[in-house]
Amino acid sequence: MKYMDMIVSETLRKWPAAITTDRMCSKSYTIEAVNPGEHAIHLKPGDVVVVPINGIHRDSKYFPNTDTFDPERFGDENKGNIKPYTYMPFGLGPRNCIGSRFAILETKTIFFYMLSKFNFVAIDKTQIPIKLCRKNLNPVGENGMWIGIEPRTN
Ligand code: HEM
Repeated sequence: MKYMDMIVSETLRKWPAAITTDRMCSKSYTIEAVNPGEHAIHLKPGDVVVVPINGIHRDSKYFPNTDTFDPERFGDENKGNIKPYTYMPFGLGPRNCIGSRFAILETKTIFFYMLSKFNFVAIDKTQIPIKLCRKNLNPVGENGMWIGIEPRTN
């Protein structure tokens, strides 16, 4: 089940179901300018900061060859290279997703049983590579997500 775990982790990196999360500031804080031309940002209590989960997961600074679906990123050899706070499909900190373990268990259980009985195959309606719907902030295929399911014979 180790490889299944790597597949689920990489899927949630490339296609996080929640593309952003947010936090409301409880105290003042200044984010200093780092690069030329930037200005410091002064946050005050009540300001909302949006965390672009999808943008961070797709930043090649943190995940090289970012468009490549590569479960090995989460393998034993490589997972230690993932910089803290750059991978957050379930958010982070004390208000992270309360259902994360359940969601992962459910996903793995469904795929385990489905894959033990069926093959998943591309069909005419399957879009490769998939294009995302521009009208939806969440990762949804512009023509839906179509896949064929055929019974396994061995
Ligand atoms: C793949 C499935 C799921 C994903 C990707 C997901 C993702 C997230 C994310 C990103 C957050 C915000 C965390 C943060 O801001 O730090 C969140 C919060 C939350 N999620 Fe999930 N979630 C999933 C499934 C579930 C399930 C199955 C449940 C319940 C059984 C659940 C219950 C919650 C609750 C209650 C919160 C709010 C936690 C709080 O504010 O303290 N989620 N989730």
